[in-house]
Amino acid sequence: MGPLLAALGLDPRQSLPMRILVVGSGGREHALAWACARHGSAPEIVCAPGNAGTAELGANVAVPVTDGPALTRLAREREVDLVVIGPDAALAAGVADACHAAGLTVFGPSAAAAKIEWSKTHAKQIMDRAGVPTARWCSGNRESRSDLFDFILELDGRCVVKADGLAAGKGVAVCDSREDAFAALAACLNERRFGDAGDAVVVEERLRGPEISIFAVCDGSRYRLLAPARDYKRAHDSDHGPNTGGMGAYAPADDGCPPLVEIAEQVVEPTLAALADAGTPFVGCLYVGLMLTADGIRVLEFNARFGDPETQVVVPLAGPGFLDLLLAAARGELTGAGPPPVAGAAVVVVAAAQGYPAAPRTDDHITGLGDIDDDVLCFHAGTARDQRGRLVTAGGRVLGIVGQGADVATARHRAYQNLERVHFAGMWSRSDIAILPAGVRR
Ligand code: AMP
Ligand code: GLY
Repeated sequence: MGPLLAALGLDPRQSLPMRILVVGSGGREHALAWACARHGSAPEIVCAPGNAGTAELGANVAVPVTDGPALTRLAREREVDLVVIGPDAALAAGVADACHAAGLTVFGPSAAAAKIEWSKTHAKQIMDRAGVPTARWCSGNRESRSDLFDFILELDGRCVVKADGLAAGKGVAVCDSREDAFAALAACLNERRFGDAGDAVVVEERLRGPEISIFAVCDGSRYRLLAPARDYKRAHDSDHGPNTGGMGAYAPADDGCPPLVEIAEQVVEPTLAALADAGTPFVGCLYVGLMLTADGIRVLEFNARFGDPETQVVVPLAGPGFLDLLLAAARGELTGAGPPPVAGAAVVVVAAAQGYPAAPRTDDHITGLGDIDDDVLCFHAGTARDQRGRLVTAGGRVLGIVGQGADVATARHRAYQNLERVHFAGMWSRSDIAILPAGVRR
């Protein structure tokens, strides 16, 4: 069958519906599953564990995202063609390694390559080795804390104190004074507020400027860039309130952004080369958190996965060929140079549950999704079906409403217009997502 199809110019792998396993349960994973499902070949989607939104695209299977053996068993039973891993915890737990060992095709880096996210010291070492522009830094632990004290004094407290390991987005303290910085250091090293993740600490120079997120789909040596995005991490308008997983995002965020080719040359290419040289080639999505400072771009962090909620806006702009891109990267076969065409703009506004981020309330009945316009997307995050089959809240970030349009202003209007049609008790959102600085129009 294969040779015959090949002789006819058909790819035998395209002749049967593909099966894709998406690992994770957030808005990012619903967006990734949706992007795979819209491929021309109408692939079958399995999500582990998924949410009420992914259940509408295919099958949800209740397997924890860090259980490599159970996930590989599931992938083999369902004969999946590609495993797409969403969350950092799954990567750090070695789920991609387990998939490789089982002979599966997987989009997501090995735990060793993902260390660029789960150890900030390692990320800084790679940045230095690659010559990537970043803030001056110092790392240490309880034993070497005098180095950290000295560096804080040198910076006169205007620094950022970061727990080395994964701390659910809470391990970073942006400090204005020596007192703040010493308190943040004590929270990691003495109080052990972040557990093992804070046993080592990175202190770095505090920079200023707008931030953007760059996503490079990588096959170990080659890459393709997606649209740059900007997310909103604070809970309330004008960037007030506590940090969250992200209350909204827009793309493309190219206002004030240098040409993508410059970012690729200064950051993505040397980083991929350094990772390959270290014996940890990176296959997956390299997420570059950048600050645009008066002195040029500076890398704040790397993540080894797609961003959430940035994926919800980047993926709709990547077109129906997105799955081909993931497959090519996972197979080490990326071709072509330059970013794919970006048509228009997209804005996501997150509808959060009462009490988020401290203590989100669950089990509130969600209504109004049927009233959302056809060209507006609704990605589920913390949603589930109750015993009566009703859609209910099941997490802090509940839904992301994605408007699209020729420019950010139009996309924003579409997102907020449709958000008003959705209801659940205690629902709240930011009202200033994607309001661009005066004079910028896209
Ligand atoms: P990170 O997890 O390292 O990206 O840090 C989380 C957030 O802290 C970033 O999105 C920035 O808003 C802020 N941040 C991190 N590093 C710096 C820095 N060197 N200067 C100023 N702000 C920073
Ligand atoms: N939106 C930030 C992140 O995914 O880490």
